Amino acid sequence: MRPQSSDTFGGVSQAANEEPVVKVSEDRDGAILELDASEWSSDGLAMTLRSILDQSPQGVSIWIDHPSDETNNSLTRLGFQIQRDLFRMERPLPMEQRTDIETRSFIVDKDEEEWCRVNNRAFAWHREQSGWTPELVRERQTESWFDPSGFLIHQRDGRIAAFCWTKIHSEDTPLVGEVYVIAVDPDFHGLGLGRALTLAGYQHLEGAGVTQGMLYVDADNTPAVTLYRDIGLEVQVVRRLYQR
Ligand SMILES: CC(C)(COP(=O)(O)OP(=O)(O)OC[C@H]1O[C@@H](n2cnc3c(N)ncnc32)[C@H](O)[C@@H]1OP(=O)(O)O)[C@@H](O)C(=O)NCCC(=O)NCCS
Repeated sequence: MRPQSSDTFGGVSQAANEEPVVKVSEDRDGAILELDASEWSSDGLAMTLRSILDQSPQGVSIWIDHPSDETNNSLTRLGFQIQRDLFRMERPLPMEQRTDIETRSFIVDKDEEEWCRVNNRAFAWHREQSGWTPELVRERQTESWFDPSGFLIHQRDGRIAAFCWTKIHSEDTPLVGEVYVIAVDPDFHGLGLGRALTLAGYQHLEGAGVTQGMLYVDADNTPAVTLYRDIGLEVQVVRRLYQR
């Protein structure tokens, strides 16, 4: 899950006519900056961050794509610590592996509570993903990309056993489709549902005309990363979170 960008700051660039940017947004915990380290010289990045940070209170998070040792050194000098690494994994669609698992669409105003319970059980170990509330789900339902038909639910024994919530990035050409959140209730782990729901999500996206699949996953989430590699997704970007 990534923050919504609301503002940008230009910076000093190595390439004369392609000025890199820092996207700036806010969430409940404070300011969030996002940038791609590969677009910046380390001096340019340090200067730009200093000027932004002068205007920001403490409690700043920075997501950096393609971080290097130099990036780590600059951020450490600015008082930041590395919190975690995400992988952005991608592959073209369609996939070779297929599934015929039965799923239904998420039902708005009915599934919110049960979905939160399952999600929060599956992600109990996760700092951010474990705290979903029905209010937060309703907030997401107001986003332009929200589409219940791309929010796949698999039921077993009359309950939600697994789900795959997808998102189409319609601003991208060709269309990019994301597996936004996928999880299996811990009672049903190891039965092949994680693989089947991930495939079902990408099959849904493929049916909507998406030709490039992607997702973000914590680099240390070995079960998930192993599964994604096995269905042909490859790490294209390391996205590192720094906080102070
Ligand atoms: C990741 C997750 C979805 C896997 O679901 P699952 O139903 O248990 O997994 P499956 O039975 O479909 O296994 C599919 C593949 O995943 C990998 N895998 C699953 N569990 C694993 C583990 N504990 N260690 C290593 N690889 C594992 C294997 O490659 C496995 O294939 P194999 O059975 O042929 O060896 C599940 O563990 C989960 O819900 N985790 C919490 C939520 C989460 O991390 N979601 C992903 C966030 S991006």
